Amino acid sequence: MGYPLVAPSLLSADFGHLQRDIEMVNESRADWFHLDIMDGLFVPNISFGFPVIKHIKAHARKPLDVHLMIVDPDRYIKAFADAGADILTVHYEACTHLHRTLQSIREAGMKAGVSLNPHTPVHLLEDILYAADMVLIMSVNPGFGGQKFIEHSYEKIRRLSAMVKDQGLNTLIEVDGGVTVENAPKLVAAGVNVLVAGNTVFSSEDPEETIRKLKEG
Ligand code: DX5
Ligand code: ZN
Repeated sequence: MGYPLVAPSLLSADFGHLQRDIEMVNESRADWFHLDIMDGLFVPNISFGFPVIKHIKAHARKPLDVHLMIVDPDRYIKAFADAGADILTVHYEACTHLHRTLQSIREAGMKAGVSLNPHTPVHLLEDILYAADMVLIMSVNPGFGGQKFIEHSYEKIRRLSAMVKDQGLNTLIEVDGGVTVENAPKLVAAGVNVLVAGNTVFSSEDPEETIRKLKEG
């Protein structure tokens, strides 16, 4: 497969031609489908829910990387497993008992991810890193596609990458928000393993070629 993995965010897909866009990702060099689930509480936006996820699962030939931007995500872990999520990421800021939540995700048969908002320091993960398969660094404030990348994210990624190495883990580092063909190589150099890209992929003239560029750097 080879790093970086590329996970196009379907939030920027054309929902009127969803199957076409899913096929494009299937045919491309992308590794995962990134699905953004928003509840209108944790973030000031609502995206899509189970009927759409099940439809995506029926056509997708690559793993579903599901990013939950919802409060109290424990309520829906089983439902997302049943809907076909392969990786389930919750927000640090939305979990009172994060250790239990990550364990429940793994027990439900999925990889467990934890995401940090731009204001949340990476050192807060020091005593939970071993329980996560992936950390998602938000490089914009969550809620919308097409926002500008926050430059301070590089510093967070470097610090997180050092923490992963210090602890002898192989936790994946994913970056989400404002990723472009231009900043992707610098993000990979800072320690990113998984690039999420919405607007960059779906608003480009040739999405498959853009995915290839993200992948090859
Ligand atoms: C934002 C979402 C992102 C979003 C990224 O809250 O988590 O996955 O789709 O979109 P771009 O790549 O356009 O910033
Ligand atoms: Zn996302």
